[in-house]
Amino acid sequence: MRKKVIAGNWKMNMLPNETINFIDKFSKLVKDSENEIILCVPFVDLFYALLHVQGTNIKIGAQNMYWEEKGAFTGEISGNMLKSIGVEYVIIGHSERRAYFAETDEIVNKKIKAALKCKLKPIICVGETLEQREQGKAIEIIKLQIQEAFKDIDKNDMENIIIAYEPIWAIGTGKTATSEDANNTIKAIREEISKIYGQDVAKRVIMQYGGSVKSSNSQELFSMSDIDGGLVGGASLDAEEFSKIANYK
Ligand code: 13P
Repeated sequence: MRKKVIAGNWKMNMLPNETINFIDKFSKLVKDSENEIILCVPFVDLFYALLHVQGTNIKIGAQNMYWEEKGAFTGEISGNMLKSIGVEYVIIGHSERRAYFAETDEIVNKKIKAALKCKLKPIICVGETLEQREQGKAIEIIKLQIQEAFKDIDKNDMENIIIAYEPIWAIGTGKTATSEDANNTIKAIREEISKIYGQDVAKRVIMQYGGSVKSSNSQELFSMSDIDGGLVGGASLDAEEFSKIANYK
């Protein structure tokens, strides 16, 4: 049985003092959760978040990293920098980074390799645009993203990887994929992983759904056969609302 992993992606929201207040409230609300809970916070909040989750069941992730180890890359953050302060997860290839910061599948692949090298666990995002979906190309596009993302990634690293299926048209729009649709797409992703790494590996990889997840739809989504939790944007900014999602049973 795969565990449920529920991650909040705060995107460019929350100042350090808001982070501390959030964690103090949220940690009490989710202390009995049986799921793995991750908060992916802005870089400047990481250190405060790491201090304040000590002794709780909350893990901390970053939202991006650069693939080089060090050097003249003004403004970038390396995997080692994240690891050195105790960060455990890092989101790679979020659709907002692909759309606004020109991240390609090749870059995503480089970042995954760099993250794994530093023993960070990547949460790898894939998903189709509305146009691709309407043209009936969603599965084809996602399979390509998977093939490119996992180029030369070792089978042994697969236990440290999470895949998040986030249909771009569902992000921040209030539109959610139906649970059947999301489940079927994630099944297709599992099949693709199975083609590369075999069924044993594919059966174990955690695959989340993301895109307008809230407490009113999370129960149904997370109870589907292949959906192992969620990557939650807007609804993860409210401690009470996010605790209802994270406390999924
Ligand atoms: P929303 O939950 O705000 O739609 O965002 C989803 C997302 O992009 C999480 O990474």
